[in-house]
Amino acid sequence: MKYLTLEEYKEKIIFLNKLNKAYHQDDEPLVSDSEYDELKKNILNFEKKNPKLKDPKSPTNRVGFSPSNKFSKVQHLVPMLSLDNAFTIEDVEDFIKKIKNYLNLKNDFFPELIAEPKIDGISASLIYQDGKITKGLSRGDGEFGEDITENLLTIKDIIKIIPSRPKGLFEIRGEVYIAKNDFDKIKDNFANPRNAAAGSLRQKDSNKTKLIPLKFFVHSIGKINNHNFLTHFDFLKFCGESGFKINPLSSILISIDSLMKNYENIEKMRSSLDYDIDGIVYKINNLNLQKRLGSLSSSPRWAIAHKFSSQKATTVIRKIEIQVGRTGALTPVAKLDPVNVGGVLVSNATLHNENEIKRKDIRVNDTIIIQRAGDVIPQVIEVIKSKRGKNSKKFAFPEKCLCGRPAIKDFNETSKKLDVVKRCTDSGFNCEYMAREKLKHFVSKDALNIEGFGKKVVDNFWHINFIRLPQDIFHLNYKKVELLEGWGEQSVNNLKSAINKSKNISLLKFIYSIGIRHIGQENAKNLSKYFITIQNFLKLCNQANLSKEIEQLKELDGIGDTQIESLETFFKDKKNNEIILELSKILNIEDFKDSKIDSFFSGKNVMFTGTFSGMGRSEAKTLAENLGANILSTVSKKLNFLIIGSSKPTKNKIEKAKELKIQILEEQDWLKLSKN
Ligand code: IVH
Repeated sequence: MKYLTLEEYKEKIIFLNKLNKAYHQDDEPLVSDSEYDELKKNILNFEKKNPKLKDPKSPTNRVGFSPSNKFSKVQHLVPMLSLDNAFTIEDVEDFIKKIKNYLNLKNDFFPELIAEPKIDGISASLIYQDGKITKGLSRGDGEFGEDITENLLTIKDIIKIIPSRPKGLFEIRGEVYIAKNDFDKIKDNFANPRNAAAGSLRQKDSNKTKLIPLKFFVHSIGKINNHNFLTHFDFLKFCGESGFKINPLSSILISIDSLMKNYENIEKMRSSLDYDIDGIVYKINNLNLQKRLGSLSSSPRWAIAHKFSSQKATTVIRKIEIQVGRTGALTPVAKLDPVNVGGVLVSNATLHNENEIKRKDIRVNDTIIIQRAGDVIPQVIEVIKSKRGKNSKKFAFPEKCLCGRPAIKDFNETSKKLDVVKRCTDSGFNCEYMAREKLKHFVSKDALNIEGFGKKVVDNFWHINFIRLPQDIFHLNYKKVELLEGWGEQSVNNLKSAINKSKNISLLKFIYSIGIRHIGQENAKNLSKYFITIQNFLKLCNQANLSKEIEQLKELDGIGDTQIESLETFFKDKKNNEIILELSKILNIEDFKDSKIDSFFSGKNVMFTGTFSGMGRSEAKTLAENLGANILSTVSKKLNFLIIGSSKPTKNKIEKAKELKIQILEEQDWLKLSKN
């Protein structure tokens, strides 16, 4: 038996993963079975001897390679969102405060919450028609899931017929997991129970799924047509009575104290439970309040995951490197001796910024404690000073970006202080480091969403000069791509069709994808709502009119001084303009469509001032948006209605509105009209 070095081990993993892909995906074995087995044995042997160095990408973690194109894609009836995280009790208090503000609840009122363990598994959606299961989907990208019906049907906890046969559509969502004692029997093949459950669920052959005992807890409501539950608890109760498994540690809580006690109790029980959990999920119990709260782009306002404390490990910093982000931020990253933190091999940790390095006195060759929480990049908590040796070296933070341009700290108008982050002084694609990150953003899930075009592909194509600007993606020479290592006819065909598919894009996603600093998804929505068509948006590329155009954006909700400054810098850059013009020719950019209902407020420009008694200002704004209104932030001739809350409306605004003869609505009028 050959003993591998760490380097050889990593190489063999890459090789074995390729063999797996060739075998399982392309049905084309590249080596004999005995060669394959020998290679796998070498890898397993290394992992047994060096469990701390086990690579999470090791093929020994998987049953087989299951590419996503094996399952057909189905659009979710309502998006499957993820959850925002709270790491401290202050984060939880903040969550409740925001809810109270949004709904304008009285200070001493504590909204009823339901607390459930957060199961570390794989989420799935089950669709029933007249009580009979018709489809089972994975989460996928939240908007489209994979049809894994056959595999889900092998799970005993998933009942096939709801006894009361609810009429029409009834969608149940929950978590598929593997019990720890079942995992013990198969653990040599997987890194952790979650991986085992994921691998098993994604088997093409459901007979293989059957071999691994999977379980299911119900945790949320999908789309339901003919059932009126008043609370989340009522829904869970119904599912429990119908034969589903409901987590027995769920409870209804009505104070911060009880939340904390419940959290501590369950954290103590964590290791003795027969399934992995990684926190507690708090949800507003009342479904009407949930509906009023609604969601942000990726998580609901009515729920949060309170994560258990993260895992820590000790290692040594070997080097500090600078990474340039897509907005030009220079982030120092510690390169570490690889160390296993709770099942994940970690070799990088963020040092955040220059101040952080100084504050924690972090030096190269220092022994440090790192912490990893969820999917967040690990952080250095502290330096073990007693272990500091003579070879420890202070890090001189660079004055320049990696591209050679000066890097400076911005002056923050709100805090009247210099920013802590140094940024490259380029405004976009001229800095090659920023450009590469911008490309990664451009192809990412919430932007163009080019499947198979991940960060690694961007890096690869960048290194060999295939892409420099977003438009290059649409002029790729596929013949050349096919010759690259890791690419073949089939994968190039998939890439080609994914790129072609991405050419149809909404104006909102397009604005988001070009990656203007401070223009996230919400502001991209505000801008696309204002511009409606790409032709209007292109007016920003006309230098002569730029200041005039930008001036008008000040009225838009969400667009403040910071956004205006950023838009100005972006559009003053010639290259940015060229890119946008070029892309507008290549892409089919669809007009902004308000999918909202026809109402009294459709297409009207409204502005709110003062506080409202029945709802918070944010809720009022969202309601108006849902009714098709545009929210403005200044009083101008364009405004159709100034809506004033019953207390503390701004006098100036009312006077100006009167001067301009703009219709003023009092809270009661607004409520009546919004209900019509
Ligand atoms: S509620 C809108 N409850 O955690 C999302 N999710 O990080 C509603 N999860 O995708 C989800 N246990 O798959 C909810 N008790 C629980 C959960 C839970 C695990 C998963 C779920 C979700 C992910 C978010």
